[in-house]
Amino acid sequence: MAPKDAPVTPLDFARWKQQGRKIAVLTAYDFPTARLLDSAGVDCLLVGDSLGTVVQGHDTTLRVTLEQMVYHAELVSRAVKRALVVADLPFGSYQASPTQALASATRFLKETLCQAVKLEGGRRSSATIHTLVEAGIPVMGHVGLTPQSVRRLGGFKVQRNGDEIVDDARAVAEAGAFAIVLECVPSDIAARVTAELHIPTIGIGAGPHCDGQVLVAHDMLGLFEDFHPKFVRRYASIGEQIRKAAVEYVADVTAGRFPNDAESFH
Ligand code: KIV
Repeated sequence: MAPKDAPVTPLDFARWKQQGRKIAVLTAYDFPTARLLDSAGVDCLLVGDSLGTVVQGHDTTLRVTLEQMVYHAELVSRAVKRALVVADLPFGSYQASPTQALASATRFLKETLCQAVKLEGGRRSSATIHTLVEAGIPVMGHVGLTPQSVRRLGGFKVQRNGDEIVDDARAVAEAGAFAIVLECVPSDIAARVTAELHIPTIGIGAGPHCDGQVLVAHDMLGLFEDFHPKFVRRYASIGEQIRKAAVEYVADVTAGRFPNDAESFH
């Protein structure tokens, strides 16, 4: 395998931060999409619990189960040759104790080919992150807007308490995480965290100063059209293309134009 195609590891994240090389992350939930995104050179594929909204059609991520996450992580990680695959620990699978978190995280590494897990929370999750890292499991942290706490936060809102966010991010880094997602925080706070931490920050709605960026693939591809957050840049309109293709298919079938002779067995 050529060096440029070598599988990405958490060590690359550390090196890229030092080199100032930005890190490109997207979510993935299934085999064909993961294969496409990996072959396009995306550095890291996150099997996010955002699948609760963009795949399952719920309003929040709260109903996603560990069983479902393991299923999707297995599909994605089997498709990938280069990207680092990180799986989200879903709501209820790690908050009770570091022991519960270790049991849940272990499932991803034993039952799928994914290499790391992500979990939400700063200071409140630092003991858990430490336990997983000590057990040999790379952890990506997640602070700022943490969607699994949506009920406590009172909605999906930009998080503006700079000192809280810095303290949380610091706790995640000190606990041994190899990277941290900053979600929906003002750019200047993200810049402050990025300058202070020795681990890369991966922003979503956190401005341009982070060490990397992550988007939900269904949002950036225009496949999930229900809402369009300010921080999402649409790189494609796949939803429109699917609708147009289906309209043409229906017209062809109802008019008797599909299948034609070449599309039939003789
Ligand atoms: O679940 C997810 O997709 C995430 C990203 C939005 C960072 O946590």
